[in-house]
Amino acid sequence: MATGLSALRSISWHGADALQSCKENTKLLHVAGPTLYVIPLSEAHIESLDAFDCGTEPWAADQNDFIRNEAIEDQHRNLNRTYLFQDENGNCAGFVTVLASQVKVEHTGLSRREVRYGVAPALLVGRLAVDKPYQGQEIAPYLMAWVRRLARNLPIGCRFLALHVEQENKRAIRFYEKEEFFMPPNYEPEKKQRLMLYDLH
Ligand SMILES: CC(C)(COP(=O)(O)OP(=O)(O)OC[C@H]1O[C@@H](n2cnc3c(N)ncnc32)[C@H](O)[C@@H]1OP(=O)(O)O)[C@@H](O)C(=O)NCCC(=O)NCCS
Repeated sequence: MATGLSALRSISWHGADALQSCKENTKLLHVAGPTLYVIPLSEAHIESLDAFDCGTEPWAADQNDFIRNEAIEDQHRNLNRTYLFQDENGNCAGFVTVLASQVKVEHTGLSRREVRYGVAPALLVGRLAVDKPYQGQEIAPYLMAWVRRLARNLPIGCRFLALHVEQENKRAIRFYEKEEFFMPPNYEPEKKQRLMLYDLH
């Protein structure tokens, strides 16, 4: 599993190609040297995703359950889209699930002078997970870089990345902070989860 991981660190991203790959359902995109490919989730992947395992904590088990049992149905209903990051052997090293969303401007730190509306458009990172053997290997930043590139290339206005993270999921919170997500000002954290935002501007 570790073979080729170091190569990932020097990979450059091709945003336009990444966006193109999102449009073409089955086309493989060679984004990570010889190692990682971004592939839109389809029925063909379902069986192999039974092996995906990002951990046993409640929030990790929830991601496992989602990718194994729920993602494809959600996608059929146009509720979200999932993208797999596969290694050369076809193993899913990680995945992200994205959907359209919006955030209250009062939670963004932007002034009413900058934004004349009550809400600002956002891409919600509904799910994000890395397979255990790949955790701690700088894979997650590549997933997030890909999401940022996707959001910036959308042919619609999209100012923020948004996500909800369990308060107890310290590893994920640490990761998002490193990726420069912030806790919204004027935001009352919900009991179990907190909203985090990234300004794409
Ligand atoms: C969240 C996730 C994608 C991050 O990917 P990753 O490869 O594990 O990320 P990293 O190894 O870079 O860890 C992120 C940071 O958390 C730190 N960390 C590791 N374990 C930790 C723990 N138990 N508590 C707090 N911080 C921890 C790491 O040291 C690192 O910080 P550093 O670079 O300052 O040392 C991955 O852990 C995962 O898939 N988790 C399960 C699913 C999940 O929680 N998804 C997020 C849902 S919102």
